[in-house]
Amino acid sequence: MSPPLLKVAVIGAGVAGLATARSLKLEQHQVVIYEKSGQLGGTWVYDPRTESDPLGLDPNREIIHGSMYPSLRANLPRQLMGFSDYPFSSKIRNDEFRTFPSHEEVLQFLIGFAEEFGLVDLIRFESEVVRVERVGLRNDEWVVGLRTQGRSSEEIFDAVVVCNGHNTQPRLAHLPGIERWPGKQIHSHNYRGPEPFTDQIVVVIGYGPSAIDISLEISKVAKEVYVSSRDPGIKISKLDFVDNIWQHSKIDCVNENGEVAFQDGASIHANIILYCTGFNFHFPFLKSDGIVSVDDNRVGPLYKHVFPPKLAPNLSFVGITNRAFAAFVAIDLQAKWIAKVLSGKANLPPEEEMMAEIEQYYQHLKEKGIPKHHTHSLGPQLDEYLDWLASEAGLAEVDEEIKLISKSYFNFVIDKGLWRAREWEL
Ligand SMILES: Cc1cc2nc3c(=O)[nH]c(=O)nc-3n(C[C@H](O)[C@H](O)[C@H](O)COP(=O)(O)OP(=O)(O)OC[C@H]3O[C@@H](n4cnc5c(N)ncnc54)[C@H](O)[C@@H]3O)c2cc1C
Ligand SMILES: *[C@@H]1O[C@H](CO)[C@@H](O)[C@H](O)[C@H]1NC(C)=O
Repeated sequence: MSPPLLKVAVIGAGVAGLATARSLKLEQHQVVIYEKSGQLGGTWVYDPRTESDPLGLDPNREIIHGSMYPSLRANLPRQLMGFSDYPFSSKIRNDEFRTFPSHEEVLQFLIGFAEEFGLVDLIRFESEVVRVERVGLRNDEWVVGLRTQGRSSEEIFDAVVVCNGHNTQPRLAHLPGIERWPGKQIHSHNYRGPEPFTDQIVVVIGYGPSAIDISLEISKVAKEVYVSSRDPGIKISKLDFVDNIWQHSKIDCVNENGEVAFQDGASIHANIILYCTGFNFHFPFLKSDGIVSVDDNRVGPLYKHVFPPKLAPNLSFVGITNRAFAAFVAIDLQAKWIAKVLSGKANLPPEEEMMAEIEQYYQHLKEKGIPKHHTHSLGPQLDEYLDWLASEAGLAEVDEEIKLISKSYFNFVIDKGLWRAREWEL
């Protein structure tokens, strides 16, 4: 066997870290995966604990990585929850034929994947990466600082791939008057079940899968649920298929008497506000001297959401395009592209060209009126992006079936709305 090409650190053993490690291994790189928890799977490992600050504002709180709750089922059809050459098998449980898999099944898929490709032995569990910085006389090495069960250490690598996930750091909406609003507030990151909402009047902010799923779940025990969204397309009325859920526009303000006033003119008295307003990217360990930064949820500059041009190819990010309709497929192709670039089988354009491409993309978003915080959300351009990645990685185009399912599911959600897309919950 030929000696390994590069020594590469992978941060995190979730979907992104596992897919990356497998691809790097296939390209003969030497891989170490650092995982701060005791288990692989990231988001898909259920953690019953919640944070001391239900909004996640206190910087001194103990951070809980997981945002998942027991009843969660995937919001994508199972065909979109696998990798292009390692499909999400439906044989895992004989009784499991549902289109949207349970979270347990997704975890089983990831454990099976890691075992099959010999990835488990590459993981250093309970090892939190606390520092990633470029060092060395020629500035071409990377130091990874670690905290392992209270002990600190460092290790040197040729390259680092950041796969730390981004569904941990709550993103909040600012509500005028919230400082004096007397009710309870919680972010979906700390939601673990409907019990605390029993007999309560709840305002849910957001219109993503979590807002929809959690509203439906709490509506079974809560007195009333008001879903507030900035989406201009929503119909301001009671849902016709649930007795106690109303849709409203954005919140105008909240008052010290418990009132919540919506921009559509309605106002109610509520006990709890639940923010399903998403998450912020957060790389607390990255010391890049400002070369890579996060600005209103734009991680940049990143060439094709993966490589910061100035530090490429030895620093890269996997899974930044997470709101795609085929996140696993995108993650896997990003991982394969990185592995090929690091082994010299794929080439990146010169730094200036990558920068120009990024500027052009930002300009395109601006012209289309797409806000900065949607820089990494891929909608209809997903197919094109996936095929581009596949071709850079020297692979065949993404399977037509995957594209077809992703497109038809995307269109279904756009047409029918997210409520109907979760019909099985109604
Ligand atoms: C409630 C919820 C539902 C979702 N449903 C779906 C769905 O149905 N379909 C879908 O495709 N996607 C879904 N997602 C998106 C989901 O995030 C992705 O599917 C996927 O899990 C992302 O994988 P990841 O590896 O990027 O991140 P994660 O799964 O978050 O894994 C990151 C890993 O990195 C580790 N880590 C973080 N920081 C450090 C550090 N400093 N040092 C060492 N280790 C570290 C963490 O412990 C974790 O194990 C959902 C997300 C949430 C929150
Ligand atoms: C990336 O790492 C390799 C191996 O250590 C090194 O030869 C190369 O110079 C590095 N590239 C950059 C841009 O630092």
